[in-house]
Order: sequence, then structure tokens, then C-alpha cells
Amino acid sequence: MRPTQIPKTYRVKSFGCQMNVYDGERMAELLAEQGITAAPEGEEADLVVLNTCHIREKAAEKVYSDIGRLRRDDGSSPLIAVAGCVAQAEGDEIMARAPAVKMVVGPQAYHRLPEMIREATEGKRVTDTDMPAETKFDALPRRRRSGPAAFLTVQEGCDKFCTYCVVPYTRGAEVSRPHADLIDEAKRLVDAGAREITLLGQNVNAWYGEDAKGRKVGLDGLIRELAEIPDLARIRYTTSHPNDMTEGLITAHGEVAKLMPFLHLPVQAGNDRVLKAMNRSHTAESYLKILDRVRAVRPDIALSGDFIVGFPGETDAEFEDTLALVDTVRYAQCFSFKYSPRAGTPAATMEDQIPLAVMDERLQRLQAALLRDQFAFNTASVGKTCDVLVERKGKHPGQWVGKSPWLQSVHFTGDVAIGDIVTVELSEAIANSISARLLSPVTA
Ligand code: SAH
Ligand code: SF4
Ligand code: F3S
Repeated sequence: MRPTQIPKTYRVKSFGCQMNVYDGERMAELLAEQGITAAPEGEEADLVVLNTCHIREKAAEKVYSDIGRLRRDDGSSPLIAVAGCVAQAEGDEIMARAPAVKMVVGPQAYHRLPEMIREATEGKRVTDTDMPAETKFDALPRRRRSGPAAFLTVQEGCDKFCTYCVVPYTRGAEVSRPHADLIDEAKRLVDAGAREITLLGQNVNAWYGEDAKGRKVGLDGLIRELAEIPDLARIRYTTSHPNDMTEGLITAHGEVAKLMPFLHLPVQAGNDRVLKAMNRSHTAESYLKILDRVRAVRPDIALSGDFIVGFPGETDAEFEDTLALVDTVRYAQCFSFKYSPRAGTPAATMEDQIPLAVMDERLQRLQAALLRDQFAFNTASVGKTCDVLVERKGKHPGQWVGKSPWLQSVHFTGDVAIGDIVTVELSEAIANSISARLLSPVTA
């Protein structure tokens, strides 16, 4: 194979969940440390990292079409690395199907990219989908840059094995990063400009650790300690699992002012037989009880969830239970998906797979209900005064976009800067955002 030159520029393209976005940022930092710079917008990069997602069918197909699109007119391609969950699940298949790919690297091995790049430039094709005992985090460079809203992975992997899901296979077992490392990384992010940190994990509320005094702490303990960082204004966490929603974490929602009033707690379905077949190990009722407890300590909490329609064997009547649950909860926002059979998962070989047309119809009805509730939540916010963290410029001149405490996208005009926390009055709900009037800049 023809050796190539050491790449001078890179582009990292991340798909999937926020953890992949976080991993993409860390890979970019790692490449920058090697003297490889980010390719300017619109220019071809010498090295392209496709940081992939495997959660549903379409996600994996996208990777192959992306690889095809990178091919130049003369048939050559930039140096391509496939990272992320498709790399972990289908690494060998990618290598066989896509000769342009020179590197395949799994989510737990990407700290080894620099070495892999060296080998690839010598003409080798390298795969690393190990889940090494040493943590990749120790090998990654220190954080130096951050936008106003930063992600911080605190926990990775999943031991829950829902019968439809690939995550336990692509991300491995549940691992919590050490408390001290997280406090350190959070402080660095804040020094680099973060005002808000979202703690990430496939089961973020399963995080546990030991604080500086040797006490065992859960996610609520970590949140309380992070809240002590003076210039950190806001804390969020995602995604949590109903079974790990501890009393301490619920209480924290009523006591820690910096913990934003938003909870993403996926339920997937509203019918107990379906939940059991999914191996969710909670019922619709036990889920609703958790929400009641959270609402009791934080009445204004905005609730969010994930849903799957058309899980194998789901009847019309069972699907109605999902709609009924939605009517009970009145979510502020949600994600909903058609069930996608994933090779290697138990549900993929279950009998009674649901026809696509039925799934389509169910998804439409569910999404109509969820949209109705989202709009109702936004409409009910009109007239409220709240803080907004300014994250970016809007589409129109002089317009800014940021997030309300309830994670709504808020836009307004005025004399502010990115990273400011300003007070606004929410004035009009529009589809999935809210326009607002700037009251007073509070540039703390
Ligand atoms: N750990 C999180 C979610 C991770 S995946 C949790 O358990 O809540 C994000 C969402 O993708 C899931 O909540 C689920 O709704 C959806 N999902 C996962 N596997 C899927 C599949 N095979 N088909 C359709 N949706 C799926
Ligand atoms: Fe997947 Fe279930 Fe684990 Fe979430 S809890 S990552 S849905 S197996
Ligand atoms: Fe996708 Fe992997 Fe995240 S499958 S949703 S990128 S954990």
C-alpha cells in the first residue's frame, strides 16, 4: 500500500449522542496536540474522522455514504478514520467494505489515534477496538478551550441490556470516572470559559465515586461539589435511567440552585408487558412515581423522555398505553423513534416484528401528542422572567440565541456577548423555540 504524508489538517464529524460530541471534541484536542490543525470551513482536510453512531439502522448507512462522498475526482481520498460505535460494532466489515478507510477506532481506544495515524501514513490499515483497562481519559490532553455550555463525560457504558439496544456492546460495561478527575476537568472547563456544564453518561445517574475525604458519593454528591465552583452557573446531566434515580438526586433538584430544572428520563413505552420484554426493569407506574417525587421538590421541572414505537409484539392497545402515559406526564420535550432491529440484540430475533407502516402510523400519532405538549409547555412559559445563557448569534442581525433554565431555545436582540447570563422576559412561543425581550444584562 502507498504510504501517505503525515496529515496537516483534520476534520472530526460526530454523529449520535452528546457523548459522541464530547468524544469528538477530545479527539480534536488530541490531534491539535500532535500539531494537526482544524481544516478551515469548506476546505478539504488531510485527515477525516467519522465519529459514528450505531443506535439505529440509518445511522450506520450514513457512514458508508459519507465515506463515498469523501472520494475525490481522481479516485483518491483523504486519510479516513472511522471512530465511535459503528467502528466498535462493525470494524471488520468497514475495513472489508471500504478500502478508503485506513483506521478503525472504538470509543474506548481513541487516545491511541496518534500512533494509529503514524502507522496509517506508513501504508498500514489499523483497527483498534480494544476496551483497555487503562482509561483513555488519563492519556488525553488537558482541556484548554470551551464554549459557554460544555459537556463533561462522567460515566460511560451500560450494564442494563435493554433487549433492543446496542450500547452495552459498543460502549462496554458501566465505568465511573474518578471524582477528583472530574472536579479537575470541570474547573479547567470553567477557566476556559464554560458557564454551564452538562454531565454526560449512558446512565449518568449510575455514577458513583469517592470524594476527597474518602466518602462514597453518588451523582448528587458530585453535583453539590461542582456547584461550589464560583464561576460555574449551571449544571445539567443526561441521560439518566429510572432505576438509578436516587432519593439524594431527587432531593438535590429541590436544594441545589445551580442544578437546572430539567430532567431527561427515558421511559420508552407506557405498557408494562412491553417494558418487561424490553428488559427495562421499571413499570409505567414506578416511572410516574419518580416524576411525582421530582415534581414535589421542584414543581417547575421540565420533563423529557425517549420513546420507541413498534417494539416486537407491541399491540395497538399496548401502544395506546404509551399515549396515555404521555397525556399523564405532559412532557416539555421528547425524542421518539421507530424500533430498529439491531443485529446481536435479543429483540432483533423476537417474533412478531411490527410492519413499518404500523410503526409509521404510531410514530405520527405519538409525535403529534408530544408536539402538542411541547407547544403547551412553551406557551405556558410566556410572561415568565428567567435567565438565559447566551450561546451563539442568531440568524438575524443583532439576534442572540441561548437556553432558558428549562432547556428551551430562546432568542432575543440586545447588547450582549456570548457567555453572558442575561435576564429576559419570555414573550412568544414559536414551534420549538421562544422569543424574548432582554430585561437586564447580568454579566457576572
Ligand atoms: N441510556 C439511555 C439511552 C441511550 S440510546 C437510556 O437508557 O435512557 C438513546 C435512545 O435511543 C434510547 O432511549 C431509545 O429510545 C433509542 N433507541 C435505542 N435503541 C434503539 C433501537 N434499537 N431502535 C429504536 N430506538 C432505539
Ligand atoms: Fe441502551 Fe437500555 Fe443501556 Fe439505555 S439503559 S443505553 S437504552 S441498554
Ligand atoms: Fe450512538 Fe453510540 Fe451514542 S450508538 S447514541 S453514539 S453511545
